Amino acid sequence: MKKYTNLVFISILIIIFSSTVSFSEEGMYPLSEIHKLKLKEAGLKIDAIDVYNPNGISLIDALVKVGGCTGSFVSDEGLILTNHHCAFGSISRASTPEHNYLENGFLAETKLDEISAKGITVRITESYEDVSEQILEAIKNIDDLAERTKIIEDKMDEIAKAADDSVNSIEGRVSEMFIGKTYILFKYRIIKDVRIVYAPPRSIGEFGGETDNWIWPRHTGDFTFMRAYVAPDGSAAEYSENNIPFKPKKFLKVNPNGVEEGDFTFILGYPGRTYRHLPSYFLEFQENYQLPYISKTYDWMIDQLGKISADNTELQLKFASTIKRLANTTKNYKGKLKGLKRINLVEQKQNEEKEIQNFIENNSLLNEKYKNLLPQFEDTYNNLFDIADAYLWFRTFNRYSNGYLIANLINEYADEMQKPEEERKSEFKSDKIDKTKKRFNDYLKDHNNEFEKVFLKKMISDALKFNGKSEIKSLHQNLQDLSVDDFVNQLFSETKIFDLDEINNFLEMKPSDINDSFLNLVKSLDSEYKIIDTEYDRITGSISKLSAELYEVKKEWKETGFIPDANGTLRLTYGYIKGYSPADAVYMSPITTLDGVIDKSLLGGEYAIPDKLKVLYDEKDFGQFYEDRLESVPVGILYNMDTTGGNSGSPIMNANGEMIGINFDRAFEATINDFAWNESYSRSIGVDIRYVLWITQKLGGADYLLSEMGVN
Ligand code: ARG
Ligand code: GLU
Repeated sequence: MKKYTNLVFISILIIIFSSTVSFSEEGMYPLSEIHKLKLKEAGLKIDAIDVYNPNGISLIDALVKVGGCTGSFVSDEGLILTNHHCAFGSISRASTPEHNYLENGFLAETKLDEISAKGITVRITESYEDVSEQILEAIKNIDDLAERTKIIEDKMDEIAKAADDSVNSIEGRVSEMFIGKTYILFKYRIIKDVRIVYAPPRSIGEFGGETDNWIWPRHTGDFTFMRAYVAPDGSAAEYSENNIPFKPKKFLKVNPNGVEEGDFTFILGYPGRTYRHLPSYFLEFQENYQLPYISKTYDWMIDQLGKISADNTELQLKFASTIKRLANTTKNYKGKLKGLKRINLVEQKQNEEKEIQNFIENNSLLNEKYKNLLPQFEDTYNNLFDIADAYLWFRTFNRYSNGYLIANLINEYADEMQKPEEERKSEFKSDKIDKTKKRFNDYLKDHNNEFEKVFLKKMISDALKFNGKSEIKSLHQNLQDLSVDDFVNQLFSETKIFDLDEINNFLEMKPSDINDSFLNLVKSLDSEYKIIDTEYDRITGSISKLSAELYEVKKEWKETGFIPDANGTLRLTYGYIKGYSPADAVYMSPITTLDGVIDKSLLGGEYAIPDKLKVLYDEKDFGQFYEDRLESVPVGILYNMDTTGGNSGSPIMNANGEMIGINFDRAFEATINDFAWNESYSRSIGVDIRYVLWITQKLGGADYLLSEMGVN
């Protein structure tokens, strides 16, 4: 403990000293805040108006949201740079055991050879507008908390839909900035035809695999080129040979000279979620329920999927994306669990709350209104703890059991079809019904009987142990005296839901005529899930209401305005290329090199590299990307900018707004960022543009892409 205190003390000193030369701070700043920052003082050499100009063209026009990731335009022909792991799903979907683009990489020799990146939509932020008043007006007189949650969601959807403008390929989306308090309508231009241009082999794009994931020092070439296409008239269109490359308003200039330690950098991107404004009780929920449950369950799933697909390339391709996503989350959660303990975050927050409570009680006006605010938060979270086991279980089961998804859709279909058209949920109205039915094909495609069966056995065994408000009574009733094994075996031998013809038969039936083991089970489970879900809505409603109040108190308590948590909307963060000291006696410097790649490759396995890479290295074929100072080609970079999931693929820019790298990860200690940022441990990881260009040119042989980006 003593040692650790010393470490904190030293870090504080370092922060104080380094802040005299340069400063950086927590912050994923929304567009509205960019012009309030002292970016010039921090090191920016261009004007803030060139970064974000609401009335003209600026860097943000080169930014795209690529699925759940970020990317940026790097040519006037719609060329996009993002991460390999962001394109991973579409690369594996396009791969077969014969043409395994995941293993071997993919290069389109010409535009005609590019392949469709199935499942990926690109979005460009066009404009934004504050709609808080409309939302808050709608809940003004609503006391029921579950209803409040529903009304907010519905109103957000309604406002977003009203902004949809398909003629101009515009989609609206309302984002909650401060919970229960501020709501912004964003208008996004969408592009539906996205193609893969160059993806390095997995051994580069995912070098180091799960062992190196969330770890610095890093040597992963996590990048992929894609291209955006639109119809000849410029509108968004699904994949078609007639489509033409999209001309962005702005594309980023790639600077092949890269960066050095200490350089000012900034990132624009779409960070997904942070939870810094929630109270200590939320962190207790994370520490005691969500993080351990999910990481344990996902570990188990990864293990099973690995066993089932061992020696079967087709199954490996089928499971690759899922395994990767599960592995990514479970390791992140373990990092968070360690971080929570390491910095005693719950206690820190509790102390802060004690101060806030004192502050409230010492101010008669505040005391009258908010005396019970924090105790109410506590009650609300106690309600969540009561249903936590069941809630997390249902969420996991509903997401990963294709049997559940199929059965639930059949049951819902049967019920909805009994109603007159006007009363049906929108996905069951005649214009949408065909699309809804297509979901059965997707579920069946993802389904694997062997996994489904063991998954069900595990989940049911787990759930039988829940008690109190989390007890899932229908499971006990369904099982009667059977063992879990016998019950699940019988369920599978009797059910017909894993066959498309049988599904279509069910869709012809009235609810009362349907009788199937799986459908019956899901029906009874679902009625319990609805109770849990409504309780969860009530809890969310309460958190929303209390968060808005806490915001008011905190505004008076700390005079400075604070920054909304990440919510998938466009943000800016800035900082410096900078090393750190994550553990006793360890200092990590901020740039890795090709030498490190070769070094790690001696271990093979997740570090195996393509033979050609070794040849290029031995022949010292480094082209213009050799860095004298480092005596090698730079590969990975580390910096103290504030990023989170969703920032993957974000361009890292230098003081002149030129691209010098692509963000793709955080250090293990920084996984706790989502709850609390701190200069001493918050470090994010990117791939240096010089490695991107070197691999593309020398390993990929895609000189034309360098020319297209103006790098010669
Ligand atoms: N950790 C990075 C991110 O959160 C990279 C993920 C790549 N996936 C992986 N399982 N290696 O998304
Ligand atoms: N790899 C993450 C993503 O997919 C970014 C890393 C992080 O969470 O900071 O967005």
